[in-house]
Amino acid sequence: MGEFMPDIIRTDDAQDFADTAARLIWARITSIKNPLITFPTGKTPLDIYSRLLRDHGGDKAVWEKVRYLALDEYVGLPEGDERLFAQWLGRELLDRAGVPASNRMVFNSLAADPAQEAKRMEQWIAANGPIDIAILGLGENGHIGFNEPGSAFDSVTRQIALSPETREANARYWGSLDKVPEQAFTLGLKTLSSARHVFLLVSGAHKAAALEATLHGPLTPDVPATVLRTLPNVTIIADKAALGLK
Ligand code: GLP
Repeated sequence: MGEFMPDIIRTDDAQDFADTAARLIWARITSIKNPLITFPTGKTPLDIYSRLLRDHGGDKAVWEKVRYLALDEYVGLPEGDERLFAQWLGRELLDRAGVPASNRMVFNSLAADPAQEAKRMEQWIAANGPIDIAILGLGENGHIGFNEPGSAFDSVTRQIALSPETREANARYWGSLDKVPEQAFTLGLKTLSSARHVFLLVSGAHKAAALEATLHGPLTPDVPATVLRTLPNVTIIADKAALGLK
């Protein structure tokens, strides 16, 4: 397997991180006609989304052309549930920016046959892709999307059981562990690897170990984000704390 060194953009503090990421992401969005983009949920991108809205929210002609592709989603939540990532991204970015509902390809959390639902997504990407910009966060256990440790580098879109650590980490958004579903959908590592460009966003000292393993550890499904080192087109935007620097 070929190995590449991702482009690492080192930022200072939280403000510099959000400013820099918003600037780079916007530059890429505006360089593509009908960009197909995955946006992550989580705390990491929140300030980035605020800046995109503050600085470019009025640029409706651009947002109207954006095609949003769900990166991951909980399984089994009813339509409209605030925990759905599709709702989250709507609240934090897409609704406010004006990305049309018809431009959003999302998982049906309540699909009767999850395997079929995952297949539907994979087929949709085959017909409408490639993903132009995969924007990803990094889990403390090295996951990207919901590709938990153990995910094969050639995995495709599928249902996956969330690890106890991931459920714990996500519980803070909803107040308690029992509010976090046990199963999720995720685009696979192979699916994400086919993107034209990948941004990995990493902020905070609590991500330092995962980022270190991503950059310098062995290439292994135990740290799913190491798959990014097999790709030539990855930009990692990280702050000093995540890079283990003072
Ligand atoms: C969740 C999401 C990921 C996200 C990660 C990091 O598990 N499924 O897409 O990147 O957590 O979240 P945070 O930014 O809150 O640390």
